[in-house]
Amino acid sequence: IGYRQNIFSLNDMSYDDEQKGLNDQITIHFSHVVAENTPKGMAAEKFAELVEEKSNGQVIVKIYPNGMLYNDETELEALLENEIQMIAPTLSKVTRSLPNWQVMDLPFLIENNDQLKKVLNGPLSKSLLSELESMNIKGLTFWSNGFKQIASTSPIINVEDFNKKRVRMMVSNILKQQFNLLQAVPVATSFGDVYYDLQNNHVDAQENTISNIYSKQFHTMENHITLSNHGILCYAVMINDDFWDSLDENKQNIIMESLEEMQDWQFEQAEQMNEDNLNHLKLDPNVHLYELDDFSKKQWQDQLRPIYDIYENQINNDYLKELLHELN
Ligand code: LMR
Repeated sequence: IGYRQNIFSLNDMSYDDEQKGLNDQITIHFSHVVAENTPKGMAAEKFAELVEEKSNGQVIVKIYPNGMLYNDETELEALLENEIQMIAPTLSKVTRSLPNWQVMDLPFLIENNDQLKKVLNGPLSKSLLSELESMNIKGLTFWSNGFKQIASTSPIINVEDFNKKRVRMMVSNILKQQFNLLQAVPVATSFGDVYYDLQNNHVDAQENTISNIYSKQFHTMENHITLSNHGILCYAVMINDDFWDSLDENKQNIIMESLEEMQDWQFEQAEQMNEDNLNHLKLDPNVHLYELDDFSKKQWQDQLRPIYDIYENQINNDYLKELLHELN
């Protein structure tokens, strides 16, 4: 009977309907630079699952992790060319095009996950996302990967320990200022080059989240990790504007609803993954973990204090005021 029913329902659908259904199917190519088992990797997969389910297979999201298609330097260009339709770069990597976004890289402002969640879902984030319009990009939402720590080949605890250390960072003016103020030597590289650069002794340290450090095994070379929580690392989920406009309203709604539905899950997942990965590192006898005591933290903060003036003098300081307002 089941067989007959299937035949019946297939016959019931006209050839035109069938063709329309097939023709309506679209594929979103989503490229990112980190491993699959990271907050961003997992979020991309969850998004693909939700979108496919809600659209009954009419919207497929194909994910390309680990920078297998494009790296930090090329993914934005590829998005603009519509070679891929979605990316989720770290906010810092967009600051060359949108300098106001540097506000999110100011150190020691956001102190815990509750504050981070509030800010990433709040009015400041909405304003920042809307700035993407000037680049012909539709900003969809922000995802979190929590707090940055310092991983190094030798201990960095007191602020003087940064002296002359070659610290890998993302390409960003404000992060460069940060490491200059710490008397380190900032080295801007693509995420995909970090492992090679460490193996070949091109850098001594980096700032990154525990999940990024652990998933790429950076701790096997940078085995001194200071839990400084000095900055945040978050992602701007974005889609090519022309591609977005070409989607019918139903598909646009499915994409937005999927992102909304998974937003809380994404924050919890990021927190949990960083915690789980840290627990693994705690068990590794070759890894040395350090907490910043109040004295050292104050030293770091004092050394970095001029960065707020640098930011305020150069950029839209309403954003910093808004951020401070949202934190209170
Ligand atoms: C980095 O370059 O260190 C990070 O932005 C990688 C990422 O996407 O989390």
